[in-house]
Amino acid sequence: MKNPWSHLFLRSSFFALKKEEDLDTSLKIEHSKLQYDSAVNGFHPKRKDEFLLGRLCATKAFYECTKQPLYDLKNNPDRSPAWPSGVVGTISHNEFWVGAAVAKDTDLLGVGMDFEVMGRTKLELAKQIRSGGDLLSHPQLSDEELLTLIFSAKESLYKALYPQVKKFFGFEDASVTKIDLDNGTFVINLISDLNLNFGPKSRFSFEGRFTVDNKTCLTVLELSH
Ligand SMILES: CC(C)(COP(=O)(O)OP(=O)(O)OC[C@H]1O[C@@H](n2cnc3c(N)ncnc32)[C@H](O)[C@@H]1OP(=O)(O)O)[C@@H](O)C(=O)NCCC(=O)NCCS
Repeated sequence: MKNPWSHLFLRSSFFALKKEEDLDTSLKIEHSKLQYDSAVNGFHPKRKDEFLLGRLCATKAFYECTKQPLYDLKNNPDRSPAWPSGVVGTISHNEFWVGAAVAKDTDLLGVGMDFEVMGRTKLELAKQIRSGGDLLSHPQLSDEELLTLIFSAKESLYKALYPQVKKFFGFEDASVTKIDLDNGTFVINLISDLNLNFGPKSRFSFEGRFTVDNKTCLTVLELSH
């Protein structure tokens, strides 16, 4: 399916679906093979749909990357997906879109992606989302749009790094210092030590990519070795 996001993924396989669109026949067949009856037991129907569509995207991205099937991607107790060994991956959903990306772990150390509804991040949340070094304004963005991009970039960093650092870190632990709308890139810096390998005294600066289409923004962080 044609989508506006694929160019953001340089070293990972990506698959996304627009939620309101009906699945075509081949996707319906793939969807019917997903094995998550116990995992989604008790989920609200909306959450169940979202979870299963995320898994469908993961299955498609995983196949494109490895040529292997994947119909039972569980979540770890911390909610992160338990990707099979040999790959790294990421899943995201917002009101309109759901998607997943997968890369071989020889190609990338991690990958994180995050869909948000552009401008919907409320300014009242700024105190929770912003850290000292975050951009305070941007000549081409409203304050709400800037906050959405900062929030999304931080979530992408979290998803890319979490499997490496294996611990929670918060919005105060990183700063978005540059957003380049013309090139669709952002720079995010860690300002706290997460472990020996990631933090201000070790590896701290990361460049991600993003695009905004209609009401949705997608940020992507592919973490190289
Ligand atoms: C985990 C979190 C990043 C998910 O983001 P979200 O915007 O709420 O939701 P999204 O739809 O984009 O992503 C949800 C998916 O993230 C994945 N996920 C959950 N926890 C994860 C983790 N620890 N690491 C990697 N991926 C994770 C799951 O696949 C989940 O989808 P699923 O439950 O259907 O499997 C967010 O809820 C959170 O806890 N954020 C606080 C930590 C943070 O962002 N710190 C900023 C550091 S600078």
